[in-house]
Amino acid sequence: MGLLRGLPKPRGYPWGVFAHLPRWAGEPLGLLEEGAALGPLFALGLGRPAVVGYSPEWNRRLLSDLETFRSKGSFSSLVPYLNGGIITTEAPLHRARRQELNPHFHARALGGLEARLRTALQEIRPQGVFEANRWASEVAQTALNLAYFEGQFPKAELARFLAPLKRPFPAPLWPRPLLFARVRRRAAELQARGLGLAAHLPLEEVLIGLAAGYDTTAHTLAWALWHAACHPDWHHPAGHPLLIKETLRLYPPGFIGSRRVARALEFDGIFIPQGALALYSPYLTHRHPDLWQNPLVFDPARFEGRIPAWGYLPFGGGERICLGMHFAQMVLGVALSLFGPLEPLRGDPQPKPGLTLAPRGALWLRTVQ
Ligand code: HEM
Repeated sequence: MGLLRGLPKPRGYPWGVFAHLPRWAGEPLGLLEEGAALGPLFALGLGRPAVVGYSPEWNRRLLSDLETFRSKGSFSSLVPYLNGGIITTEAPLHRARRQELNPHFHARALGGLEARLRTALQEIRPQGVFEANRWASEVAQTALNLAYFEGQFPKAELARFLAPLKRPFPAPLWPRPLLFARVRRRAAELQARGLGLAAHLPLEEVLIGLAAGYDTTAHTLAWALWHAACHPDWHHPAGHPLLIKETLRLYPPGFIGSRRVARALEFDGIFIPQGALALYSPYLTHRHPDLWQNPLVFDPARFEGRIPAWGYLPFGGGERICLGMHFAQMVLGVALSLFGPLEPLRGDPQPKPGLTLAPRGALWLRTVQ
């Protein structure tokens, strides 16, 4: 860690660049919060030197310079589901590939999908008591299936493919060559039949989109439903966009983003060597009292005012901003709009880290009427 001199470090084991691995594996949010209390930039030993920052300036620098902050060798490279396609495409190729993909995910392009999604979700809308996490997972799978394959991908097969993303570590990290090969074959069949987005995208982008869009959307929806029940003042069509924004502020599923430093740099007087990990944290940024008043209070009204530049990034930012952002927002809006009043029965909405942030416990709700 000598190379990251000048940076504070949270408590760790005296193991040099491995100092924080056990805490990272066991309680990453506690570790991040402890580091954040030491300063806007801190160091961790995660098998190699890592720099974590949460200031708007750090977020902007990391997310705007794709030549210095590379994706290959970051945490996503460790996850077979996320190790490929646009996610591991580096600058300068990344821009051209995004230009090919973006038109399919613009709000305009998704217009036709919205009505079909509404119909599909109406069929699975719960009546009476239901558990929000379970239903939200079904919604995310239904929406992805509809968008990519016009709903023709066998449901159970899709569920089996996506399930490990929601399991605790190390399940999301295991290679599953047979499962992946089966899913690729099935997706190729549907692609050849000219179905949905799959017909217009390279196969690897289809698999990456399914994986990147599943647990992220499902967890956000579960939280949004819970908060729609707890804050009925915001549970109406005009309130939903702000309710969703506030949900993503307090519980950004992508709580940590990582890059590998391809060329040494200086930031705020600190020398960051080539090969280091550089991390940004929507979770820390969104909960920082310098940027957000009463950051731990759930208050959608805060989005009626100005949002701090580079201080709100549930979908990342810059050229690597989430490809599925409009799609996810559309799914969340349609799903919430299916419900009249909701009653929160019992649940634990505190965030629990896995591959993404998830609600810690079951969230039981009841439809009223
Ligand atoms: C609420 C739901 C979602 C959240 C919170 C979310 C969050 C994010 C974040 C934070 C990033 C940037 C990661 C980084 O900087 O390292 C990202 C990238 C990405 N997301 Fe999402 N995402 C969501 C839904 C989706 C959906 C539905 C899809 C696909 C249909 C998707 C596809 C992608 C892809 C392909 C990238 C990589 C983009 C690139 O590297 O150019 N996401 N997402």
